[in-house]
Amino acid sequence: MKQQDPTAAAPHGADQRRGPFRAGERVQLTDERGRMNTITLTPGTAYHTHKGFLNHDLLIGSPEGCIVESNVGQQYQALRPLLSDFVLSMPRGAAVVYPKDAGQIITMGDIYPGARVVEAGVGSGALSISLLRAVGDDGYLHSFERRQEFADIARGNVETIFGGPHPAWKISLGDFQDEVVAQEAPGSIDRVVLDMLAPWECLDAVATVLAPGGVWINYVATVTQLSRTAEAIRADGRFTEPDAWESMVRGWHLEGLAVRPDHRMVAHTGFLMVTRRLADGVTGLNLKKKSKGEFSAEDLNAWTPEAVGEPAVSDRKLRRAARDASSTVQTKGTKSKGGEVPAAPEQGH
Ligand SMILES: C[S@@+](CC[C@H](N)C(=O)[O-])C[C@H]1O[C@@H](n2cnc3c(N)ncnc32)[C@H](O)[C@@H]1O
Repeated sequence: MKQQDPTAAAPHGADQRRGPFRAGERVQLTDERGRMNTITLTPGTAYHTHKGFLNHDLLIGSPEGCIVESNVGQQYQALRPLLSDFVLSMPRGAAVVYPKDAGQIITMGDIYPGARVVEAGVGSGALSISLLRAVGDDGYLHSFERRQEFADIARGNVETIFGGPHPAWKISLGDFQDEVVAQEAPGSIDRVVLDMLAPWECLDAVATVLAPGGVWINYVATVTQLSRTAEAIRADGRFTEPDAWESMVRGWHLEGLAVRPDHRMVAHTGFLMVTRRLADGVTGLNLKKKSKGEFSAEDLNAWTPEAVGEPAVSDRKLRRAARDASSTVQTKGTKSKGGEVPAAPEQGH
């Protein structure tokens, strides 16, 4: 096995996830009833609850996994939030890709260290963080987002988790289908990841930038989007037959002999679909599917943002989330605004 060179620089963001707690870091506190809260460590301040307060200075310099006590003896277990905790509690303006789906996208989209990946839309940056971890410092992730406010939220969240700008990340403003062909050379991209309302509008752009054999993975919230994207891919002919699936993760209750599935679960987030770019000049195998691939005017009306349940988010709300995202970027010793951020429950897309 290759020995690690102790003098080599750690991959981006790794060092700040090790060692004793430092000022400016986010720490997840769990109380004796299992309730979680995330705080940003600020010297000289305290975390207040209706049951007293806990001085941040007790945590700064303590090892991860320590147990600390408030002024009234309430105990808290302190850990750094994992990526899956962070994405569910970070500031957001749009629905995020949940950890269970991000894991599927990385594996089934075959995102590997050093890969050249393009992504849209960026939304709150949840998926961008997982993609950056997978491509690593020597990879390349170019993310496209049509709304400035979302780009600002995503940048704040990415910089918080990596402790500053990531060397492999570039974010561009505008519509993916226009910008990606303007900024990336034909056939230069290994993987395309889309999480947006209308991925079929990007088909030509994806076919242009994706290298032969390259993987295109889509995440969509509804079956109507899934159907339209699949039919567009088939009709185009430059891609392999698409595969679609969804993943369901059911938590389990563990207590003595009472070991059983949880009563509640996140039953639906989105569907995933994957296809690959064929070599230029060939058309896909005729897989003998009887696809109609045509949509009526009534069908086409089903793809408006309102019809697929995409909530309208006001510019004001987005500007506030962008301010929150940039204020949580870790700057050692800087006073946090907001203080405590409660862990968000999982919600559907
Ligand atoms: C559901 S959000 C993405 C969430 C993101 N993947 C995450 O995990 O946080 C969809 C985003 O796509 C953006 N969008 C939709 N169509 C786009 C397009 N053609 N080009 C660029 N961005 C687009 C929207 O503005 C929105 O921010």
